[in-house]
Amino acid sequence: MDTRTFGFFSLLLITTLVNAEDPYHFFEWKVTYGTMSPLGVPQQVILINNEFPGPVINCTSNNNIVVNVFNNLDEPFLLTWNGVQHRKNSWVDGTPGTMCPIQPGTNFTYKFQVKDQIGSYYYFPTTALHKAAGGIGIIQVHSRPLIPVPFDNPADEFAVVVGDWFKKGHKSMKNLLDSGKSIGRPDGLHINGKSAQVGAPVEPSWTFEAGKTYRFRFCNTGMRTSVNFRFQDHDMKLVELEGSHLMQNDYMSMDLHTGQCMSVLVTADQPPKDYYLVVSSRFTKQPLTTVATIRYKGSNSPALPELPPPPPENTAGIAWSINQFRSYRWNLTASAARPNPQGSYHYGQINITRTIKLVNSRSYVDGKLRFAFNGVSHSDPKTPLKLLEYFGVADKEFKYDSIPDEPPPDVEKNVKIAPNVLNATYRNFVEIIFENRENTIQSYHLDGYSFFAVAIEPGRWAPEKRKNYNLEDAVSRHNVAVFPGCWAAVMLTLDNAGMWSLRSEMWERFYLGQQLYISVLSPERSLRDEYSLPETTQLCGIVANLPKPQGYV
Ligand SMILES: *[C@@H]1O[C@H](CO)[C@@H](O)[C@H](O)[C@H]1NC(C)=O
Ligand SMILES: *[C@@H]1O[C@H](CO)[C@@H](O)[C@H](O)[C@H]1NC(C)=O
Ligand SMILES: *[C@@H]1O[C@H](CO)[C@@H](O)[C@H](O)[C@H]1NC(C)=O
Ligand SMILES: *[C@@H]1O[C@H](CO)[C@@H](O)[C@H](O)[C@H]1NC(C)=O
Ligand SMILES: *[C@@H]1O[C@H](CO)[C@@H](O)[C@H](O)[C@H]1NC(C)=O
Repeated sequence: MDTRTFGFFSLLLITTLVNAEDPYHFFEWKVTYGTMSPLGVPQQVILINNEFPGPVINCTSNNNIVVNVFNNLDEPFLLTWNGVQHRKNSWVDGTPGTMCPIQPGTNFTYKFQVKDQIGSYYYFPTTALHKAAGGIGIIQVHSRPLIPVPFDNPADEFAVVVGDWFKKGHKSMKNLLDSGKSIGRPDGLHINGKSAQVGAPVEPSWTFEAGKTYRFRFCNTGMRTSVNFRFQDHDMKLVELEGSHLMQNDYMSMDLHTGQCMSVLVTADQPPKDYYLVVSSRFTKQPLTTVATIRYKGSNSPALPELPPPPPENTAGIAWSINQFRSYRWNLTASAARPNPQGSYHYGQINITRTIKLVNSRSYVDGKLRFAFNGVSHSDPKTPLKLLEYFGVADKEFKYDSIPDEPPPDVEKNVKIAPNVLNATYRNFVEIIFENRENTIQSYHLDGYSFFAVAIEPGRWAPEKRKNYNLEDAVSRHNVAVFPGCWAAVMLTLDNAGMWSLRSEMWERFYLGQQLYISVLSPERSLRDEYSLPETTQLCGIVANLPKPQGYV
């Protein structure tokens, strides 16, 4: 054990002795339809406690979070906690493979712990196409008081949801997908549910005091579009990415792909007036741009109309974005909660026990658009996978290992629609390769884990490419973007037992099958490794009337 790891454990021990139980945060959320104008035109949105974005969950590592969700929509509903690992507890993951949806007019209480995590995450709905309508908000996890953070306390912190938006409405978008068509292109971008154009009179979204430094936590919660964000006349210091403190670098603009989150520090070191935050689309045929205003306290001079330029598009823009990805390095000396202090801290020295290579595809099955991994396009069985497995009736609705670890030669041919579940071995150290042979950018996410994003490169992956991996200070995160014609490699230890969603964060792709579940079972059926089915879990499908199995001990 080196000193860093030792420091972490001794602090852990102290706080464990002082606090018999970690603090709780209770929330009661009413999910309703409402009317808002994310693109300046009133439309139906999904609100949480009358807000979009929904309430910020502001907490500290190891806190217990209890969210009682009342579904007042006309359809079943679920929320997932994107990037929050809730270890041993995929029971509350909120994906269709882990939970029965909350029926209209009923409520369900999610309970989970943000164990050994810090950073910026978000929640969103996984049912139907609700994500296109809202129900989204930021989760910010602070370091515990005794753990030093590698930057001074900011004067304030601001949670910022950004993303693309459609005017069609989630029901007609779902109908399009159900009939085998694409949802098409978004109509605009929003910043915290608002969009503004340069020169339009708007209330400032944030206020700066000269000389102070602010933390912005950005998450791209959109349906499909990568964005770039930048501030007029202010650099950004990138300090945190999806739960890892980084080597701090200054940037003039940041790419943020669908499903990604990051924190930047911005110092109010410019003449006091208004400034724009600019968010623009990346790699889209028709560029989209929106702005929000920052006002220095006491200023009444409007922001100048000249916006900082976006990074290049096309091939040069892809190279630019890959370079930016490569500039992200984990700060190995910054103390923080680590995803797995014992093992994967020195992830470069662990032998790989399994390589799962996933090739994405877009094709038509019986004339309908489908997206797949290795030739299988996922469909949810009637009963959530996790419950089928726990009740011992998995074989009634799905088969394990429906795809091979090595993709078939023509992934887009003969695509099969079926539940897609990989059977993994608990505590294996695995490598997952995402190979994107399509000409559009992809974005992938795994629930329940952080992984080390060790490489993104153009071309096809081959075992000898491993020599190009960053085996020292790759960032431990939960999302990786895969650029057109490129591959990405991630590594992780499968030490969190449960049924975990691995998915495209581009929501049309998710909805039409580009997702799978990794079943990680501890052979011991022990409470040390996984919680038993919580008493309050709602049952549905074929397990609704089965006797409950003996819990883990
Ligand atoms: C969020 O939580 C942190 C840590 O507990 C606290 O310092 C901060 O004041 C909280 N922010 C808000 C807006 O409640
Ligand atoms: C529903 O809400 C009520 C009132 O807060 C609470 O007592 C009950 O436990 C909740 N039910 C579920 C399934 O969470
Ligand atoms: C890394 O973290 C250490 C410890 O908190 C801090 O002193 C240092 O400035 C950080 N390095 C960079 C480059 O951000
Ligand atoms: C990793 O694999 C190498 C070569 O197969 C072997 O010599 C080494 O002992 C293994 N290391 C561990 C930690 O298992
Ligand atoms: C899945 O893996 C577990 C643990 O290795 C094993 O016990 C089980 O038999 C496997 N199931 C199938 C269907 O392969």
